[in-house]
Amino acid sequence: MTTREHWGSRLGFVMAAAGSAVGLGNIWRFPYTAGENGGGAFLLIYLGIIAVFGVSVLLAEIVLGRVTQRNPVGAFKQLGGPVWALAGLLGVITGFVILSFYIVVAGWTLAYVGFSTTGAVSSTDPAVLESQFGAFVGGTWAPLGYAAVFMVLVAVTVAGGIGRGIERANKVLMPLLFLLLIALAVRALTLPGGGAGVAFLLQPDFSKVSGATFSAALAQAFFSLSLGMGTMITYGSYLGRHDRLGVASGAIISLDVLAAMLAGLVIMPVVFAFGFSPSAGAGLTFITLPAAFAAMPGGTLIAPAFFLLLAVAALTSALSILEPAISWLTDERGWSRPRTVWACALLCFALGVPSSLSMGAADLTLFGRTFFDTMDFAATGVMLPVGALLTSIFVGWFWGHRALVELADTPGADPWWSRAWLLILRFIAPPALVLILLQSTGVI
Ligand code: TRP
Repeated sequence: MTTREHWGSRLGFVMAAAGSAVGLGNIWRFPYTAGENGGGAFLLIYLGIIAVFGVSVLLAEIVLGRVTQRNPVGAFKQLGGPVWALAGLLGVITGFVILSFYIVVAGWTLAYVGFSTTGAVSSTDPAVLESQFGAFVGGTWAPLGYAAVFMVLVAVTVAGGIGRGIERANKVLMPLLFLLLIALAVRALTLPGGGAGVAFLLQPDFSKVSGATFSAALAQAFFSLSLGMGTMITYGSYLGRHDRLGVASGAIISLDVLAAMLAGLVIMPVVFAFGFSPSAGAGLTFITLPAAFAAMPGGTLIAPAFFLLLAVAALTSALSILEPAISWLTDERGWSRPRTVWACALLCFALGVPSSLSMGAADLTLFGRTFFDTMDFAATGVMLPVGALLTSIFVGWFWGHRALVELADTPGADPWWSRAWLLILRFIAPPALVLILLQSTGVI
């Protein structure tokens, strides 16, 4: 067996894991979800959830990887036997499903870097932008072409390996991402009238808090931290046995929360300053924001910078969605890395084709939703919560006290919070994840 490649440094690991966490979820979903669910009140709940569940499940995944030095399937198999290995396999499959539609949206962001540079999407009338967006995503070849370009960027990087591929890309792209975010936030916060956007994001409104607020915050927290499909197991497996985890996971989480907050402080002031009202997801990103940018002094520079930011965030996340499958096939099957990467990339792209076409080019529906929505729902609504649930049960109950031994960075030096960690994985995370599942599948 060849020796496993490791991160060049702990900072490299933190950058890569933060690059995974900070993605489309932070920029296009967090700000709207927060604003709609009571602003500052939602933030408090979200931070509480991150501090309790986010930290615990993140550490559980990283420890599983660090101990076993294996991919998700191998990690579960080594510690729990062949039946538990299925939990890892579920993660690998989830990765293919997520990546198949993630590259479609990431392709749109690439396209909009171009469109906003050439001035093709510079109307201040959202109705015009809406029909432009609809015509673009509803086309056949253009969106597929951009998704293919994005998939190639991901594959080339991942094929480069851990240190020279994933780590190096993140070390360049993450500082760029934060630089863009900070510059955009400064511009947005100095817009006259932007204050209303800050208020929408931050002013606590406890009347909007309900049971649904908690499950929205939980789902957002898990997706944003890339939990539930073995991404962090895989990234953890490239750590050395004695690499310290406490500070590293604190840093990953802080960067993820910071990026989400900054994205909100860019998007909401811009939207409100020009008299628009925020909406969710694609509409906000590709219709409302371009209209506001077009109305804004300096908008011709700001708009491409914003879409570049989105593309960068999507790229560093996509690397981490692909890597678990690559790690599995190279570890367990002995396939060569480049060959595996290109085969998996092709498979993801093929699975992405119907998602892209279902945006208008063809009438592709599955289980009563568009193909795209079904993929999104299957992955984020069902497979990720199940994956996180199995991970919590495995580490909390099956591995149990042995996990405590492994959590320590050096033998015997248990961190003071290790008991609380185990209690959360045993008693708090599983019911919360069941709640998300029941909510997302419409049972409650
Ligand atoms: N966290 C990323 C985002 O916010 C998406 C992501 C990357 C992800 N890797 C993941 C989500 C693994 C779930 C599981 O967009």
